[in-house]
Amino acid sequence: MLIHSRIDGGPLPEAMQNGWTGAALENRVVVSAPGKLMLFGEHGVVYQRPCIVTAVDQRIRVYVERTGTGFLRIEAPNVGVNEYEAGIGSVADSGTPKGARFIVAAVRNFDRRYGVRSGVTIRTKSEFSSEFGFGSSSAVTVAVLKALSELFEVRISNDELFGLSYRTVLDVQAVGSGFDLAAAIWGGTLCFRSAGPKIDPLDIEGLPLIVGYTGVKADTASLVRAVADLRTRYKNLTDRIFDIMADLVEQAREALVARDVDSLGALMNINQGLLDSLGVNSLELSRLIYAAREAGATGAKLSGAGGGDCMIALSPEPRRQFVEEAIESAGGKLLGIRAGAPGVQRDPDSEPW
Ligand code: MEV
Repeated sequence: MLIHSRIDGGPLPEAMQNGWTGAALENRVVVSAPGKLMLFGEHGVVYQRPCIVTAVDQRIRVYVERTGTGFLRIEAPNVGVNEYEAGIGSVADSGTPKGARFIVAAVRNFDRRYGVRSGVTIRTKSEFSSEFGFGSSSAVTVAVLKALSELFEVRISNDELFGLSYRTVLDVQAVGSGFDLAAAIWGGTLCFRSAGPKIDPLDIEGLPLIVGYTGVKADTASLVRAVADLRTRYKNLTDRIFDIMADLVEQAREALVARDVDSLGALMNINQGLLDSLGVNSLELSRLIYAAREAGATGAKLSGAGGGDCMIALSPEPRRQFVEEAIESAGGKLLGIRAGAPGVQRDPDSEPW
């Protein structure tokens, strides 16, 4: 009797018709990974200082299907990629559409390490805009690599997944600490150090966090390079700023554990001052940050690379509503997110799209 695969109706390889049903029969998987929000320690983390990051409940889903074409086919309409085709081992270079680069590089790295033994079609769908700075490239990289490991039945630990994902990000953009990959892989809230990587999970359930989007898309790689340039000229000063950031992150970790919102707010404000001194603040961010503080937020700072993207504020009730209104009046868009979301996972119930 010939068993037919569920996707294309074609016959399954003989080895898959011998009664060993389940994972071995699968021709497709859906995997999702969360976006992230940096709470403390951005930029310092690029220089091996710690940071605190949380995974957000807005996810990127990837659908990966095994095909007989021998090619990689990508459909990622959320980043403007429609029906892009490349060889499995293709290098992501300047000729590759921007939105496809992380996927092409991830497939190449998986192929080199474990082998991709067929063609694959990859479709992506995102619950958040790639403009927000929630780490869509990292989330898609992690999700694609996880999906390939599931599809080709390669057992990889989270540490290995991190290593392969980090290689992929460096191949494409050359810079980055990998904190966003850690959030996408492990989920929850983490104190992360790039040297290691060291992952220390934290519980921030109930933290009264507000997120405001400036409307300006930041270019992380160029902001990281700008800080590197500053460090070339003022190494002594910038390294001391990073050291203070490291102390600050440690104090923030303790304040999170103690659920001490007043201290966390004060530490956010100090962190913002340090980031400003590195030159990554912007007028749009400042407008929202000052509006939040003036409306009674316990503290406010930029989140991520700076230059735009999002700011965060802390404000327990009853002031929360005033702070939210102030951010909106200052031109910000409120993003309702829940922090501490689960890391990368298979979504067996998700329908392909
Ligand atoms: C960007 O979201 C955070 C930075 O620290 C860069 C990185 O850690 O990769 C600026």
